[in-house]
Amino acid sequence: MLHLSSTTDPSWAALAARDTDALLLDHAHCEKKAASTAVALLFRYPDREELAGPLSALAREELEHFERVTALLRRRGIRRGRRAAPPYAARLVEIVRKGEPGRLLDTLVCMAFIEARSCERMGILAATLPDAELRAFYADLLESEARHHATYLDLARATGLYADEEIRLRVAQVAAHEASLLAGPPAGPRLHD
Ligand SMILES: [Fe+2]
Ligand SMILES: [Fe+2]
Repeated sequence: MLHLSSTTDPSWAALAARDTDALLLDHAHCEKKAASTAVALLFRYPDREELAGPLSALAREELEHFERVTALLRRRGIRRGRRAAPPYAARLVEIVRKGEPGRLLDTLVCMAFIEARSCERMGILAATLPDAELRAFYADLLESEARHHATYLDLARATGLYADEEIRLRVAQVAAHEASLLAGPPAGPRLHD
């Protein structure tokens, strides 16, 4: 289940529908970033064997999504290039504590929220985009994205480092922080902000 404490502003769907090229370019960035974050965690916690298998599988799946989005971009003649990273993720992880074991818990919870928010918005795209190919594309991706946010919370539990109550509390705090980042009118046709 999703732990999001806000729902996306209804005007976002129209914004996304109006510029699907920009939406897809941002989406490609998100998939690549999701894979790279999972890999970065493999490097940062080499001694945590319980994380290795699931994070590796997740990175593989995100790269597969990246390839699917880039294939779409190619087919549609949308040119990719270097682009500024949207501020959402950088601002979200400002809540991550510096010291362990808090840093690992906070990182996993933040990743769960990034996944949950993209899942929520892919659901909106699958239901509302006028472009039938894109609607089907997002409906298909939704299935795995719906799993990913749960995977990150499962990993937090699997470490055995945190009491359930501690995880619950941190989830509630990150939920409030995440919602505050998206308060106000949506900034653009992007999966997060
Ligand atoms: Fe993905
Ligand atoms: Fe994902």
